[in-house]
Amino acid sequence: MPEGTTVLAAVRQQGIDIPALCYLDGMEHFTSCMLCLVKDRGRLFPSCSVAAVSGMDIVTEDEEIREARQTGLELLLSEHVGDCEAPCQVACPAHMEIPRMNRLIAAGKWEESLRIVKRDIVLPAVLGRICPAPCEGACHRKTVDEAVSICLLKRFVGDAGTVHPCEVAPSVGKKVAVIGAGPAGLAAAYYLQLRGVEATLFDKAEKAGGQLRTAIPEEVLPREVLDREIEAVLGTGVRFIGNTPVDDQVFNQLKADYDAVVVATGNLDDLTKSYQLAGTPKGLEVNRDTYETSETGIFAIGNVLRSSRLAVRSVGQGKEVAFSVLQYLNEEKISGEPRRFNSRFGKLLQQEFAEYLKESVTGQRNQPAAGGTGFSVEMAIEEAKRCLHCDCRAIDDCKLREWSGFYQASQKRFQTSGRRAMTKHFQNTAIVYEPQKCIKCGICVRLTEKYREKYGLTFVGRGFDVVVGAPFSEPLDQALTETSVEVARACPTGALEVRKKE
Ligand code: SF4
Ligand code: SF4
Ligand code: SF4
Ligand code: FES
Repeated sequence: MPEGTTVLAAVRQQGIDIPALCYLDGMEHFTSCMLCLVKDRGRLFPSCSVAAVSGMDIVTEDEEIREARQTGLELLLSEHVGDCEAPCQVACPAHMEIPRMNRLIAAGKWEESLRIVKRDIVLPAVLGRICPAPCEGACHRKTVDEAVSICLLKRFVGDAGTVHPCEVAPSVGKKVAVIGAGPAGLAAAYYLQLRGVEATLFDKAEKAGGQLRTAIPEEVLPREVLDREIEAVLGTGVRFIGNTPVDDQVFNQLKADYDAVVVATGNLDDLTKSYQLAGTPKGLEVNRDTYETSETGIFAIGNVLRSSRLAVRSVGQGKEVAFSVLQYLNEEKISGEPRRFNSRFGKLLQQEFAEYLKESVTGQRNQPAAGGTGFSVEMAIEEAKRCLHCDCRAIDDCKLREWSGFYQASQKRFQTSGRRAMTKHFQNTAIVYEPQKCIKCGICVRLTEKYREKYGLTFVGRGFDVVVGAPFSEPLDQALTETSVEVARACPTGALEVRKKE
């Protein structure tokens, strides 16, 4: 180990990771984020700026270090303004990637768009006709003029897709019985089958669909649409056994014959009560993260937990339970789908409208022709373009997000009232700069120095008001010429990001 090697580098050489935001291999330390704190004989210090010497007794993780890192992150987050996931996605009970769907529709890529939708929503054409769209209530565009017509766009994608777009994983050699072929059961069976689990749906009715078939008028939900989407579920290999009421005897047989059972029978009835699972008069009792019932290997989702008119909630639970069931089948700890950290800032401020419209088009919500035909191709593209791209471009690789989740940092702990207004800078054709997401780690400043950019980036202003910018108020494309993409990739947050991402 050469003299001067930092504790951070020395520890990493041993294969032990230390989290860091403002440190970049091969560059002078900056020591601003304090995420790399470690301990030597009880003394906390930032490992990126202290040289390793013999005799040190370094502790890289304990309760005190965790708390110090959490506090450091919370201080960064108190100043940080940005939405990781768009508010529409957060509000969707199935957590659908709405902004990505919109961008793909705007680009005319129906099949890719359907693939994105079906990762979360198994019945898009059906839900596109019946969902009350809680996502639209949360849409940032609603603050500007009118919400994006998300539900009709989802319907458009569902109607336009003729092929099933998702791949089925090779068999894992396990089989699961799903009782009830309504929206919850169909979703559970579909997402299990996609993961290589043999799923069999049992239903008392002759045909699958549950209340979608019995409680919704044909003019709202044509049966041909429902049948087509059910066929796509069965097309993945899901088996359907109709005309089979599951009483306690059949239930016991299913438990013996299958590796796990998912109860998705709709509203609690006498048959379901006979399964002897713990519950209240309103429904079965489950672990809300995993959907495990009182009996090992038995999971429950949908209206059997609590009566709801939101089919999308049942569909979302069907997707989530598949995750838990697979953990159970793999004999892993059953924790359910991981919930990631989400930075959020609430409603758009008036001065932010113009910033967000830079990525969109002006104009009111498009209205399809009367008669329930849905969007034409042109209208769908126009409507999708109204989306404001509220999701952060760094959503999948932001280190601030990753570590905030890991250390369970709270964004609110040190937040004072009021926040800075978001701005978006597009001067440079390759990248976007959103200064309010910057944590002032200085990586971009040091990199532009290293690359000998003529102007480069620098810290402008003083104290709390300091921001990263080009010197002498030069535009961004003068500050970052050849190296913009490289610098943006090194930014640990979404402050500097590569522009083109669907
Ligand atoms: S920069 Fe990171 S933490 Fe901030 S909004 Fe983007 S993904 Fe979330
Ligand atoms: S404008 Fe687009 S990304 Fe933003 S909340 Fe609405 S649908 Fe979602
Ligand atoms: S913009 Fe620069 S200083 Fe700000 S977070 Fe990104 S790399 Fe760090
Ligand atoms: S202070 Fe060490 S990585 Fe930021």
